[in-house]
Amino acid sequence: MSQTSGSGGEGHPGTPIEPGELSLMNSRARELLLKYWDLRLFSAAMRRHGIDLGDAVVLDAGCGSGYSTLLIWEMFRPRELLAFDVMPEQVERARARGLPATIFVGDITGLHLADQSCDAVFVLGVLHHCPNWREGLAQVARVLRDGGVLLLEEPGKRHIALERALLGWASTCDSGFNLESLRQELARVGLAVVEEKPLYFGLFGSFLCAKMAGHTSPEHIVARRLLHTFSTAGDMAASHEVQT
Ligand SMILES: C[S@@+](CC[C@H](N)C(=O)[O-])C[C@H]1O[C@@H](n2cnc3c(N)ncnc32)[C@H](O)[C@@H]1O
Repeated sequence: MSQTSGSGGEGHPGTPIEPGELSLMNSRARELLLKYWDLRLFSAAMRRHGIDLGDAVVLDAGCGSGYSTLLIWEMFRPRELLAFDVMPEQVERARARGLPATIFVGDITGLHLADQSCDAVFVLGVLHHCPNWREGLAQVARVLRDGGVLLLEEPGKRHIALERALLGWASTCDSGFNLESLRQELARVGLAVVEEKPLYFGLFGSFLCAKMAGHTSPEHIVARRLLHTFSTAGDMAASHEVQT
């Protein structure tokens, strides 16, 4: 599976990510943060909402060096794992980990995956790098099945201001990206925020979202999950009765 790269950061034409940030992203420090902070937040949120990825098709969008893909595999053991990044050299790094995953070059703003083909999508710090991040989010919503979950983390205003002060530019330049516009866009594409937590002392936001066809309030999400649990239990009881 392969797609061509189509995005470029506004501050760094041709590459979606600034070289300093790239080496930070590929560092042991980033790996430790992912392992002991980012993924733990997601795992705890999913536990609280009774979400189990054991039988799921999971996509790691913008997987970078593939360390997040490795953690997703180790922590959740999904039935099928897919991962992609727009940078071919990052995809090479991810593939070199030898994971039981399909890893390909792809652009989140133009995904060649079928509608409703994934049960869960992880998007860790990717959208704010995309000039056309709204389309990236719409693509994620498209490939998620109804009731599927999005695990999303992106920087907030304080991080963006810090980036601008330290580097003289921010990856979100001119794209209109901030957490408020992200929340509005999530609602627009039918992704309900089930939980939102601060990450890195509030520099980032960490979101657990669910794709809801129709109603998107937290009460409806809980009601739908209970209905699903009861109907699954009912199906199992019925098939047990037939067999016995
Ligand atoms: C900040 S890094 C995060 C990497 C990884 N998710 C992590 O958490 O360590 C952002 C990643 O998004 C990728 N990226 C940027 N724009 C993208 C796009 N349009 N489609 C796919 N990946 C993209 C970059 O190449 C980079 O690997």
